[in-house]
Amino acid sequence: MAEYVGAVDQGTTSTRFLVFDRAGREVARHQLEHTQLLPGPGRVEHNPLEIWERTRAVIETTLAESGLHAADLAALGITNQRETTVVWNRRTGRPYHNAIVWQDTRTDRIAAALERSGAGELIRHRSGLPPATYFSGGKIQWLLENVPGLREDALAGDALFGTTDSWLLWNLTGGVDGGVHATDVTNAGRTMLMDLETLDWDPELLACFDVPRAMLPRIHSSSLPAGYGVTRADGPLGGEVPVTAMLGDQQAATVGQVCFRPGEAKNTYGTGNFLLMNTGTQLVRSRHGLLTTPAYRFADEPAVYALEGSIAVTGSAVQWLRDQLGIISGAAQSEDLARQVQDTGGIYFVPAFSGLFAPYWRSDARGAIVGLSRFHTNAHLARATLEAICYQTRDVIEAMEQDSGVRLDVLRVDGGVTANALAMQIQADVLGTAVSRPVVAETTALGAAYAAGLAVGFWKSTDELVGNWHEARRWEPEWDEPRREKAYRGWKKAVERTLDWVEI
Ligand code: G3P
Repeated sequence: MAEYVGAVDQGTTSTRFLVFDRAGREVARHQLEHTQLLPGPGRVEHNPLEIWERTRAVIETTLAESGLHAADLAALGITNQRETTVVWNRRTGRPYHNAIVWQDTRTDRIAAALERSGAGELIRHRSGLPPATYFSGGKIQWLLENVPGLREDALAGDALFGTTDSWLLWNLTGGVDGGVHATDVTNAGRTMLMDLETLDWDPELLACFDVPRAMLPRIHSSSLPAGYGVTRADGPLGGEVPVTAMLGDQQAATVGQVCFRPGEAKNTYGTGNFLLMNTGTQLVRSRHGLLTTPAYRFADEPAVYALEGSIAVTGSAVQWLRDQLGIISGAAQSEDLARQVQDTGGIYFVPAFSGLFAPYWRSDARGAIVGLSRFHTNAHLARATLEAICYQTRDVIEAMEQDSGVRLDVLRVDGGVTANALAMQIQADVLGTAVSRPVVAETTALGAAYAAGLAVGFWKSTDELVGNWHEARRWEPEWDEPRREKAYRGWKKAVERTLDWVEI
């Protein structure tokens, strides 16, 4: 009897494999980082073969260390960094190019040209997304225009596109020997190529980017009783396990945080921040700079949608302090350093490294530190970095409240930065709203496991999952209103300073 469910979480900086029991408790895991390739300003790439290699390794190590086997797993779910674009050859299994990561801004001219041509409205309405460098459509177009021979192979059906869910599914289920080429509605919904209502590739959207349909994966429900495919017995699991769920990492975290009712929301603090609010089976179109996106689709039930506020740079700003400036040795040290001061001494850091995402959508913005005087130290900068994470969250929450009319009384949080208690206290202070973190902080992998387990009856219903959610810690606001509003006014002024920086 299989007593567990496995989940691969292929994220922006690392890949993990986790195993959960019926109570939603983690019983085993392993995690490995992969290389961040930064070939030029605004360019961010990953090596898809390295990602596949790391995926193999984390699965093998988890099983070896825990003594578990494929037969112990009732199902496998895959969750992934969204939008990151891989194109590979179905006959050789070789990628045509490094993956172009969601943070990469090389397609800014493609996005600007779409707006100028008047296609922006069609794209917004049909896909729920504004033309922006963030999404896959422009990245596929760039590859088709810049990799010799790729367009011919794509038209012939030999070149396959996928986000990393599809890339891993194809490799896990057989690779060149008949790997399955598929994705789910939540990942397809991040390409600018899918119609939000039909949940299928849209010919007019494909024409906007000149993408041949033959290269696109088949779109399924996120939780699929019939299964996407079965893992190869000679693969890293060492046995056949049905892959019964795939969903983008932020949507998976929404499931892991059991946000199943309209109005429920979660905020994940990873390399970026992603706030998703469940809007039920109703499509809510944003008028304040948020995305409309599928939250999940379970089996043949109608799709459930979400409003999303995506922030490109939050945790990765802390990594920048570590890797590029060398002022901290690890993420945890950002808290110690920031605690050395009571406030930022009036400086603001706007980490617009990839332009600004929600609610601004300005690819012409670039990062800035403003208000500096000789008095300021590394400690002020560390604190300004944590505050920037929190102000950006307030930007999207204000937009969310305006779009949905729902005022959040508690913000459910998860992800790496939530280990930073100072950042979470600042978050409550900046919002004037309580912040709550669950016991299982790995909500992304948990959500993928939930979706996979629901498909095979391992869990019977979403109500059972809601019963697994428990609060671990809560932060209440401490700032008074004048302090909160003055600080936020300063942030808005700082954001203004970053706009119009790059000529597109
Ligand atoms: O849309 C990008 C998002 O899916 C990346 O999430 O956690 O890998 O940074 P993460």
